[in-house]
Amino acid sequence: MNINYNDKIPNNVELAGDRVLQRALEHWQPQFLNWWGEMGPEGSHALDVYLRTAVSVDKAGWAQFGYVKMPDYRWGIFLNPAEAERKVGFGAHRGEPVWQDVPGEYRANLRRIIVTQGDTEPASVEQQRHLGLTCPSMYDLRNLFQVNVEEGRHLWAMVYLLHRFFGRDGREEADALLGRRSGDADHPRILGAFNERTPDWLAFFMFTFFTDRDGKFQLSALAESAFDPLARTTRFMLTEEGHHMFVGRNGVRRIIERTADVMVQERTEDPDRLRALGVIDLPTIQRYLNFHSSVTVDLFGADLSSNAATFYTTGLKGRFREDHIGDDHSLKDASYPVLEIRDGTLGAKEAPALNALNERLRDDFVRDSISGVEAWNSALEKRGIGFRLRVPHKAFNRQIGPLAELKVSPLGQVISVADWQAQVDSWLPTDGDRQFVQSLMGRVVTPGQFANWISPPASGINGQPVECEYVRFN
Ligand SMILES: [Fe+2]
Ligand SMILES: [Fe+2]
Repeated sequence: MNINYNDKIPNNVELAGDRVLQRALEHWQPQFLNWWGEMGPEGSHALDVYLRTAVSVDKAGWAQFGYVKMPDYRWGIFLNPAEAERKVGFGAHRGEPVWQDVPGEYRANLRRIIVTQGDTEPASVEQQRHLGLTCPSMYDLRNLFQVNVEEGRHLWAMVYLLHRFFGRDGREEADALLGRRSGDADHPRILGAFNERTPDWLAFFMFTFFTDRDGKFQLSALAESAFDPLARTTRFMLTEEGHHMFVGRNGVRRIIERTADVMVQERTEDPDRLRALGVIDLPTIQRYLNFHSSVTVDLFGADLSSNAATFYTTGLKGRFREDHIGDDHSLKDASYPVLEIRDGTLGAKEAPALNALNERLRDDFVRDSISGVEAWNSALEKRGIGFRLRVPHKAFNRQIGPLAELKVSPLGQVISVADWQAQVDSWLPTDGDRQFVQSLMGRVVTPGQFANWISPPASGINGQPVECEYVRFN
């Protein structure tokens, strides 16, 4: 089904057939646009940007590319097509037909899940708000804006569910999603990582690599939900999420390639010398990696959680690729290893699998991150450089759960507070690191040109050349 772009709110949910809902969303729309004007990408409103817009949910051709002024972007509501006779795949309702409406007894939990997911979407736009002013190229500027408009659309996806299925409470939650602000002392975003600053492009690429990957895993778990509209909307969001992770994966890779090329040319590994040459030394990249990985790992929540057990048992939130897992999908008698401290070292202990679902999703995420980082290392290997980047141990630098009380090195050794303090500057970005990276950030907007600290990409967007004028300043 193609989407009618003459509609005020493009959609494939037959909005026109529900006047009350349509009016409510049309009332929310100008509030969203006000928020975008205030908190969306700074200085971007008059630019023509080469963006993709979702025009259908057809896997073969769901997006259309063209120049758009971002405030005119058509944020729409799209659900993947319904799967005929879809059944609940896990929990106490396994084998029953999925729900087209919200069961009264699960209303509060579902609302909470949707609001928590929805809150991350505008948060990341706010976090990335100033980055356009220091883009390393027009190609990267365009990618930033693409991520931003799609996070805006993800907010629409969640707000649709709130308005459509949660009545007055849902409308109030939708308004509140535009009221909180990333990093605000009085009205912060719900989750910690979404209140951190994203001050420079190394941080942005690490964020899209790690934190958008958290998005992938959370959305994948929700894509299993027995509440079918949630499953269908998150499945379509995952299609867009792939590009966000691509931006991070390739962004960091291009920084590494540039640094490695200079290391080979100048025959040096000395961070000071490399910094003087205007590229980001590998230890600094590792410290940024450690920071973004650990902050994101916290997003999965406490390793043992009775909420996680309830969400699973009641069919609200499944596991990553639930249908690929060969067990009973009820987990009543199953166990799963979580970390515990024993004689001063970290060890595994078996815990009830139902309570350990956060930990399991975290482990899935960590595995996925590790394979992404391996691709970065291959860029170093290719150039004969011995340095290897690595994902820190999942217990490193935790702020949530029992591990938050421990000091753990990136390799997973439990250490004293004094040892931590003595070494933390080699593990996490220092003020000096951040100032140095900031000092490299200057705006490059000549088509085909790139800042000194990053390599050009191997190819452009949607078959366009790398030197395409992706953003027209007019
Ligand atoms: Fe998103
Ligand atoms: Fe994303």
